[in-house]
Amino acid sequence: MDWGLKNRISRIIKPATGRTVMLAVDHGYFLGPTTGLEIPKETIEPLLPYADSLMLTRGVLRTSVDPEKSPPIVLRVSGGTSILSELSNEGRTVSIKDAVRLNVSAVAISVFVGAQYERQTLLGLAELIDEAEEYGIGVLAVTAVGKDMVRDARYLGLCCRIAAELGAHIVKTYYCEDFDKVVASCPVPIVVAGGKKISERDALKLAYDSIQNGAVGVDMGRNIFQSESPVSMIKAVRAIVHKNADVDSAFELFNSLKSRGSKKE
Ligand code: R5P
Repeated sequence: MDWGLKNRISRIIKPATGRTVMLAVDHGYFLGPTTGLEIPKETIEPLLPYADSLMLTRGVLRTSVDPEKSPPIVLRVSGGTSILSELSNEGRTVSIKDAVRLNVSAVAISVFVGAQYERQTLLGLAELIDEAEEYGIGVLAVTAVGKDMVRDARYLGLCCRIAAELGAHIVKTYYCEDFDKVVASCPVPIVVAGGKKISERDALKLAYDSIQNGAVGVDMGRNIFQSESPVSMIKAVRAIVHKNADVDSAFELFNSLKSRGSKKE
């Protein structure tokens, strides 16, 4: 790995622990004004000090994040579809030139294995890697799951391995039973998506199980920004990811921070 690429990846996966808490706020690119992200700046700002990196689109980055206070950026560069259309029909939405101008640490693109436009998205990943590597920019492959796909270790293992074989530097996927097998057969680091909002304790358990089974971290969105206390939640997730806290102590931390802070915190 060349110096620039290694340096950028180390901004995301912190060398001190080898782990990362990525904050995902890119949902609007196909979901529109997602609950909790109606006014992105208001949601994002209080969470910034606790996010190892921020995953978002160019539009939200430019309008809602102060360039002088920004954590490392993982820029979503795929899209072109909405929840009203065939989601797997994604294409590229941002040039590498603009990603360089925005000084991002990595770019993120979805692949839809087993879906209608599988080939297009996989070749899109390969092409993006070729372009990004010219500038030492990392590529995060997001293993997007269609409605009919079973999220089991066999399927997610297939998605992660294909993304890694094509050259992705980090892969983002979902947690599942036998997750250690998914991790073992993927030669690059894996981060786990949070998925739909669940209870805070369950989301902390998801983070804990992911780490215990070999993920290097989480790329969590709704279970942080839709929490009744987003700052308390991201701090509790950090305790699990970076300090090896167990679920009970992280949940206790969440509750004590929540009771001390304001609702938004
Ligand atoms: C989905 O493809 C988006 O990239 C989200 O960033 C991702 O799903 C993570 O967010 P959440 O934890 O809300 O699932």
